Amino acid sequence: MAENMIPLKIAGIGYCVPETVVTNEDLTKLYETSDEWIYTRTGIKERRVVSGNETAVDLGLKAAQNAIEKSGIDVNDIDCIISAASVPPQLYPTLACTLQAKLGITKTIPAFDMTAACTGLIYALQVARGFIGAGIYKNILIVAADNNTKITNWEDRGTSILFGDGAGAMVVTPSDDGIDDILSIKISADGSIGQMIQTNMPSQCCPLVKQADEVGTGKIIMNGKDVYKFAVTTVPKYVEECIEASGKTAEEIDYLIPHQANQRIIEAIQNRLKYTDDKVISNIKYYGNTSAASIPIALVEGVEQGKIKLGSTAVLCGFGAGMTWGGAVVRLREGIC
Ligand code: UT7
Repeated sequence: MAENMIPLKIAGIGYCVPETVVTNEDLTKLYETSDEWIYTRTGIKERRVVSGNETAVDLGLKAAQNAIEKSGIDVNDIDCIISAASVPPQLYPTLACTLQAKLGITKTIPAFDMTAACTGLIYALQVARGFIGAGIYKNILIVAADNNTKITNWEDRGTSILFGDGAGAMVVTPSDDGIDDILSIKISADGSIGQMIQTNMPSQCCPLVKQADEVGTGKIIMNGKDVYKFAVTTVPKYVEECIEASGKTAEEIDYLIPHQANQRIIEAIQNRLKYTDDKVISNIKYYGNTSAASIPIALVEGVEQGKIKLGSTAVLCGFGAGMTWGGAVVRLREGIC
């Protein structure tokens, strides 16, 4: 932490996943695949999918309400909302503005969407840390709510096996005891390899002007092999650097809570840190890749299931489209979820 920065407290964390489950077996109705192929390559057995009129707004709202309740902060004392959705239901009004209204916040606080794909939660945490550290805003709500399945190409068995829907939220505030819950945080990007994961939005040309008439499909196009190679080479080393920056050793940190993209990628980070299974939080089996929401979902569920004991430390790491990646070593106080 830079000198004179106000320390940050992680005050509350919440999550929400849709009820509807789509199993690997269900996917065999769409294309030639098998539970065995998907599970062996990815660690995924099933994922949650929004249904009916349900959208990221509903998931994000519940996750936010849970996080606010745990934080003990009055909803009207929130003074900034950052939404880190990869796939908001609408470009505007932004998800953050929609949530401001749905949460019943009557003050005219700033609310904005900030996209860093699956790394969104870590990016938003760094932005919030800057705001709190500089004394600009106090109580910040971060919401990572994703509807990946709305932009998944359901004819592509190489990508549609991976994604699921879900939301996570965090309330961060100035620390009341002088202890900073962010021991270290780093965010990075390399746009020169951005073509590895793309979603080109549907577009149109002005009828008066000659333009290239390439029209995006709005669906995920991914070179899975390249993403996999990028993830296993870049992320484990980066996580080590985050730990080093925290002033702790890997052994001194209680848990690894990584972005849930592929079990084999999680294991590559685990192996680098030489962590035993009880230190690594993985729930990809039941949710697939929920983008920016995957870390808070894994964290809160890990606490609910007794895998994570609060009053501990964890290294969080995210990576995804952009390409973006980030990591943070955080303190998990009692009562935050
Ligand atoms: O937040 C970041 C998000 N993205 C990721 O984390 C993606 C990282 N990458 C991966 O997880 C892996 O690359 C995948 C799981 C997506 C794919 O695994 P892979 O080992 O890289 O498989 P592949 O795409 O190279 O395909 C190997 C074979 C191909 O058949 P041929 O050409 O060898 O005959 C595919 O057509 O497997 C075939 N294949 C499938 N077969 C059964 C691809 N998808 C499937 C499928 N079921 N669902």
